[in-house]
Amino acid sequence: MKGTITIRKARLIDLPRLVALEQEFDRDERQAVLEENPAIKRYMRKSNARFSAARMRKWIRSSNTRVVIAENDAMPCGYSVAWIATNPAIFRPKRYGFIGIIFVQREYRGHKISSLMVKDVYAWFSKRGIKDVFLTVLSDNKYARAIYAKWGFGDFSTVMWKTGLK
Ligand SMILES: CC(C)(COP(=O)(O)OP(=O)(O)OC[C@H]1O[C@@H](n2cnc3c(N)ncnc32)[C@H](O)[C@@H]1OP(=O)(O)O)[C@@H](O)C(=O)NCCC(=O)NCCS
Repeated sequence: MKGTITIRKARLIDLPRLVALEQEFDRDERQAVLEENPAIKRYMRKSNARFSAARMRKWIRSSNTRVVIAENDAMPCGYSVAWIATNPAIFRPKRYGFIGIIFVQREYRGHKISSLMVKDVYAWFSKRGIKDVFLTVLSDNKYARAIYAKWGFGDFSTVMWKTGLK
């Protein structure tokens, strides 16, 4: 990989580039999961660019959300979205950090770009007094699960799903 990687807070001007990255994220995550478990194909909905743009705009404007973009010599190659969430009364702590999206373009993977984005997100959480971080990952996304385990994430709860009720 040539070039210099920069990680920075995303701005509204980045919106079209973030939406394009999100389309790739959708394709790659879907592919990783379907390779493991083709039976779930009918549950995987394709993302829609208009919905994605509206959601991203809201996130960029929110002071409760950190949208990070990774660039290789000013060319976008990854992004991450994280926010502060609130637990229902039965769980502690009340406020925790949630990593909603993390994506790096295929040709840039394995160069620690996602590690750099997560570092930025952790610093943003820390400034807000957040010490606990949560994320969800599709069970069949073996690659992402292995990376999260390496970063120190462990299983906390399991979502169990029964389909095809008549
Ligand atoms: C998951 C993803 C974001 C990782 O991005 P990346 O920039 O390639 O990750 P990094 O290079 O920062 O690697 C992170 C760590 O995982 C390690 N790692 C990489 N591949 C691994 C694998 N297959 N198994 C275990 N660990 C692995 C790296 O060595 C690194 O560890 P280190 O810092 O101790 O060396 C990227 O693969 C991606 O965008 N995938 C498609 C979208 C997706 O599925 N996102 C997750 C949805 S929840």
